[in-house]
Amino acid sequence: MKNWRIGSNELAYVTELLNGGFPGRQSRGFVGELEKNFAEKTGSKYAISFTNGTATLHAALVACGVGPGDEVIVPPLTMSSTSLAVLHAGAKPVFADVDPDTFVLTWETVKPHISSRTKAVMPVNLYGLPAVTEEFVRQADSCGLPVIEDSAQCFLGKADGRYAGTIGKIGSFSFQNSKHMTCGEGGMTVTDDPELAQKLRRFSSLGYGQISAEPGKSKIDKNVIAAPETIRHVEYGFNYRLSEICGAVALAQLERLDEFTARRIRCAEAFMEVIDGCKFLKVQKTPANTVNSYWALAAELDQNTVSWKEFQQEFLKQGGDGFYGAWRLAYQEPFFAALYPQVSCPVAERLQRNMIQFKTHYLFEEEMPSQLNALKSVISKFS
Ligand SMILES: Cc1ncc(COP(=O)(O)O)c(C=O)c1O
Repeated sequence: MKNWRIGSNELAYVTELLNGGFPGRQSRGFVGELEKNFAEKTGSKYAISFTNGTATLHAALVACGVGPGDEVIVPPLTMSSTSLAVLHAGAKPVFADVDPDTFVLTWETVKPHISSRTKAVMPVNLYGLPAVTEEFVRQADSCGLPVIEDSAQCFLGKADGRYAGTIGKIGSFSFQNSKHMTCGEGGMTVTDDPELAQKLRRFSSLGYGQISAEPGKSKIDKNVIAAPETIRHVEYGFNYRLSEICGAVALAQLERLDEFTARRIRCAEAFMEVIDGCKFLKVQKTPANTVNSYWALAAELDQNTVSWKEFQQEFLKQGGDGFYGAWRLAYQEPFFAALYPQVSCPVAERLQRNMIQFKTHYLFEEEMPSQLNALKSVISKFS
């Protein structure tokens, strides 16, 4: 079966790039076009691309002034890059618990962790559900704290009518293979603030002074770079630039982002129809005024009825695909546990043990029926 995630434009753009004389200084500028279109799509003033969605978080933190001695409040129930990025910035992740229904940070869970050292809050728009709302940002503003949205798993989700990633100061997205859109590895930041945009751009590009945050201006003019008197580095930076090849693929994927997202939502809704009424599966709650873009359909399993392992085995036996459990909480991983042995977030710990993440990127007609039938059988067996 042809991989539906890759359409004809991915190949066409990469071919155009290579035929145009890779590495493409004379080429169309796929990265610039991607950034321009991504900004337009999300309604952001600036979109700055990166090598991945961990580099984006690192850059966002540094752009917001986070550094050694600072603390950043993060959830523990997420992929570890959220906390690792805080360490990359030289700061300390402080773990706040998550809401038992939505599985994400709320202002109530964040507030007790604010100290004089807190420099930013970085909620995760988890499984496709926006954690950041206008009210969350208002509260953070009143404490002088920038909100960085880790929206790696949430493309086109919405809260209060605005796209996830665009409500806080900086939004961060990942184009890693499992995400709504992909180019293998890649990432994007969005912001409306020109100063932050400039900082993000420079950080992504070795601190080069000539580089502009404007879309399509991520390269330095050849005549400037050729001159021996040219000053390059005006700030500290990393080489976090997205390659033109990845940019070409991501540009083609962005053209289909609506379709990809609609597919995930449709798969999640079909799973939820089957789960409806089941007493031992509690689906992640999507609050009013919120659009969940369902990177995965997450549900908490009541293991008093059936153990996670038993549920998984039965689902596979009935012809279901493998589903994932949640990542171990960041502070439960050996590396972090050595740094932060005293942390405890009881809700996240319970959810982590019980979580089932159903995949949502199936071909609806071809692949979903067997998944839905498998789930129906498992539910009826343990009901
Ligand atoms: C919530 C979250 N944050 C950050 C990342 C890191 O993104 P990347 O793998 O592109 O570095 C991921 C995914 O991989 C993620 O799921």
